[in-house]
Amino acid sequence: MTPPLLEVRGLRTEYRAFGGTRVVRAGDDVSFTRERGPTIGRVGDSGCGKTTTCLSLVRLLPAGAQVTAGEVLLEGRDLTGLPDREMQQIRGREIAMILQDPMASLNPLFTVYDQVREPAYHHRAMRGAALRERVRSLLGSVRIPSPERRMKEYPHQMSGGMRQRIAGAIALSAAPKVIIADEPTTSLDVTIQAQYLDLLKGLQRDTGVGLVFVTHDLGIVAKRCDDVVVMYAGRAVESGPVRTIFERARHPYADALLRSVPTMGSKEPLFRIEGQPPDLADLPPGCSFAPRCPLVADRCLEQAPPTLEITPGHRADCWFAQGSGPVLDAVAPGGGAAHTNGSTST
Ligand SMILES: Nc1ncnc2c1ncn2[C@@H]1O[C@H](COP(=O)(O)OP(=O)(O)OP(=O)(O)O)[C@@H](O)[C@H]1O
Ligand SMILES: [Mg+2]
Repeated sequence: MTPPLLEVRGLRTEYRAFGGTRVVRAGDDVSFTRERGPTIGRVGDSGCGKTTTCLSLVRLLPAGAQVTAGEVLLEGRDLTGLPDREMQQIRGREIAMILQDPMASLNPLFTVYDQVREPAYHHRAMRGAALRERVRSLLGSVRIPSPERRMKEYPHQMSGGMRQRIAGAIALSAAPKVIIADEPTTSLDVTIQAQYLDLLKGLQRDTGVGLVFVTHDLGIVAKRCDDVVVMYAGRAVESGPVRTIFERARHPYADALLRSVPTMGSKEPLFRIEGQPPDLADLPPGCSFAPRCPLVADRCLEQAPPTLEITPGHRADCWFAQGSGPVLDAVAPGGGAAHTNGSTST
């Protein structure tokens, strides 16, 4: 049996500050599986560990951070234990990342040509006219106008949207199997955002590259992803097919998040999640969401919840996860009508 394209099992990443006296567990027991083909979206509040998880997947964590448990399997091969030299051969060639800040992926001192050609040159041994043609075609596929002229220019001569797309062209350069795109559109205006996401989706359809999109925007997930992982306080609290989760989220945080997004035409009051996410260096015992959870019971405050598989491929970390409708139906105003059509406005 062919292994999944990307499988993440029980991944935990920690930042150690002040000589190890403050340990931030920015990812804890994060698991998901990416089969070939479709797109996975990851959502969660600011600071819940989305970027940290991405950096762990490609092993680009900053000093002071380290993966302390779990596995990242790319076609069945665990990347977490590989020597740095081997990982350098895999990064860019098999798995590439588009960073949250496009300027962080671009070097201001090199031309666009030099930067887009590098992965194809280094990992695919492309040279000469073939390499030049590869760069021209990559810039064309990410819709950079006049690629022949633009490839001689420097990043500061480009607009924000063009820089994002050039970062995308660099990620695609060596034709990797998986691209992790960390909030690839936050610095773009809404129209350009939609264009860029359609572009990545189109490239995914054409090339079969597996895409992991990180976003805090549920509208993006609804429209452009096949599967979703919802993160809270460093954990993947719910994951599964987008439609299933939009219709019947079984983790109270995921359901509350869905109910807090305005939908066109809905007159229901928006759901508010009271309180703040916890400090990741000082997580409460039991379930991290318990202090804010409308369904909280005694055991939630004492024991970490199990991961329950509700239907094949749909998992949630909650004592109340078993059931059919959205988990907050019993307590939310307006019952479960809020998100039955699987779409939200952006
Ligand atoms: N270099 C660092 N040193 C120590 N702690 C860090 C470092 N970078 C991030 N953290 C902590 O790790 C946690 C997760 O941060 P991360 O950037 O992964 O979140 P995020 O979900 O990507 O947030 P955002 O939506 O704002 O991009 C945060 O609590 C943050 O304070
Ligand atoms: Mg981030």
